[in-house]
Amino acid sequence: MNVAAATIWHDRGSQNGPGVRWVTIVGPSQKRTAMQTTTTIKPLTVPALAEAKQAGRKLVMLTAYDTGFARTLDANGVDLVLVGDSLGMVVQGHDSTLPVTVDDIAYHTRCVARGLSRALLIADLPFQSDATPDRALKAATRLLQAGAAMVKLEGAGHKVDTIRFLVEREIPVSAHLGLTPQSVLRFGGYKVQGRDEAAAKKLREDAHAVVEAGASLLVLECVPSPLAAAITASVSTPTIGIGAGPDCDGQVLVLHDFLGLDSGHRRPKFVKDFLAEAGSVAGAVRAFAAAVRDGSFPDAEHAYA
Ligand code: KIV
Repeated sequence: MNVAAATIWHDRGSQNGPGVRWVTIVGPSQKRTAMQTTTTIKPLTVPALAEAKQAGRKLVMLTAYDTGFARTLDANGVDLVLVGDSLGMVVQGHDSTLPVTVDDIAYHTRCVARGLSRALLIADLPFQSDATPDRALKAATRLLQAGAAMVKLEGAGHKVDTIRFLVEREIPVSAHLGLTPQSVLRFGGYKVQGRDEAAAKKLREDAHAVVEAGASLLVLECVPSPLAAAITASVSTPTIGIGAGPDCDGQVLVLHDFLGLDSGHRRPKFVKDFLAEAGSVAGAVRAFAAAVRDGSFPDAEHAYA
């Protein structure tokens, strides 16, 4: 029997270290598990994100909540997979992200981690799990132990100290500014942020503060394209846009939005259904990755002027 043809790959992602996979080798009368070294898979690392920005390589990010989708994203060109607290709305059926717990994010992080070989896994710190640096450290430790390589937290202000606190304790952090869904009650809804000069100035200052505190990534959500472009040009940390125009260093969409699923919520302007044109989930992921990398997504129709 041709052993290579009968090899079943069990990708275990970065937890096995670069280029190492467990495989089950099926022979004529036996089945055994062995660890093989490969040269093909190099998990994306945190330092590689800043290198991508320097080299002008766009970063492709999507959310995922289970192993099957994680495998499909990983195999079709996605660099960053986010277990977002959006799962409260698109998986659990809530009206906001506020009911999501650390247990929920940890569970879905474990599921997603089993599906990744190359993509870097980010997990959200849910509502109030980052209310103090100590709480954030406890929650972030659980999420890294569940398989994440980075945690994401929303906002600036007192969160700047929390970002610094986590980074100093070897926890890579993504910041998230603009429309921060955990602030929905204060905002009075899901609205574009940074529209007037005072708000734009505050957003620019917050961006510099979170970068200075050590954030390795900065998600900008629902921000006018020119403001997102100015922030992107002024920081060394890669920015990832969602409704923030084409000039960010990368783009993210929520999986269910990008597949055109009706999650029971109003569809924001920046959402594009990639499945409709591609005809398969894998094709939709490849189309999204290609459109982000060649700069054709988002176009003006999917951005705020
Ligand atoms: O929770 C989430 O999915 C997110 C993305 C919208 C960036 O934070």
